[in-house]
Amino acid sequence: MTQTIVVASGKGGTGKTSVTAGVGCALAELGCRCLLIDADVGMQSLDMALGVHDFAAFDFADAARGNIALADAAVPLADFPQLAVLAAPPELEESSTTMLRTITRNVREMELYDFVLIDAPAGLGTGFQMAARAADSGILVATADPICLRGSERTARELMACGAANLRLVVNRVRPELMSRGLPNIDDAIDLSGAQLLGYVPEDKAVIVSAAHGIPSLLAPRSRAAQAYRNIARRLLGEQVPVMKLRRR
Ligand SMILES: Nc1ncnc2c1ncn2[C@@H]1O[C@H](COP(=O)(O)OP(=O)(O)OP(=O)(O)O)[C@@H](O)[C@H]1O
Ligand SMILES: [Mg+2]
Repeated sequence: MTQTIVVASGKGGTGKTSVTAGVGCALAELGCRCLLIDADVGMQSLDMALGVHDFAAFDFADAARGNIALADAAVPLADFPQLAVLAAPPELEESSTTMLRTITRNVREMELYDFVLIDAPAGLGTGFQMAARAADSGILVATADPICLRGSERTARELMACGAANLRLVVNRVRPELMSRGLPNIDDAIDLSGAQLLGYVPEDKAVIVSAAHGIPSLLAPRSRAAQAYRNIARRLLGEQVPVMKLRRR
């Protein structure tokens, strides 16, 4: 059965797109058929981060309208052929929510993919609600600071109101040296956000460099973030994976 997961945070720049790309590639590496949908309408960052921007001639609105088959609109990754990216249209329309729901319903009914990850835009507005309404569960991405984590609690409520249940938390850009200086640690993050932990991703320059070059961060050698994405993917598949040791840099 297809799992349709919205990756959201409310707050901007927390790492939604990076987590969507990293976990998506890790799921594909494990043999899952995975569709990543860019719901950040107008910004189109997911296809850029994964280096398929030049091949994304169609978007989810084209596929929902039947202008092109979903399988042809979604661009597969050369390094992860099990994974395809469906781009966002240039503008939100009144029918965008219906269109995105049509896509995810078709994927579920036809069992085209094992996982659909939807990269939500920042904020809790129309784009966020469109992304949330198309999903049945959610990953909340937060950085380990009190303001972002408190915002996650509100985001979680909004996601549930839109029908995305079973929310789990990914704490991104974790820097242990800051935790010893009074910033929230992973346990505090769970308490402040009120969500169950799916995993944390350490601060890792490889994520920034890979995205800038349009190369999946999972391919970066010895990347701790890539290891974290792999752990998260295995947990999504129901495996019990121990939490990575925090390592000071
Ligand atoms: N674990 C990490 N380590 C280092 N840098 C990271 C990490 N995760 C994300 N980043 C960087 O943080 C910046 C924001 O990440 P990203 O674009 O994924 O966030 P976002 O939540 O999707 O942003 P937006 O709200 O604008 O859509 C990018 O430059 C990205 O490379
Ligand atoms: Mg983004």
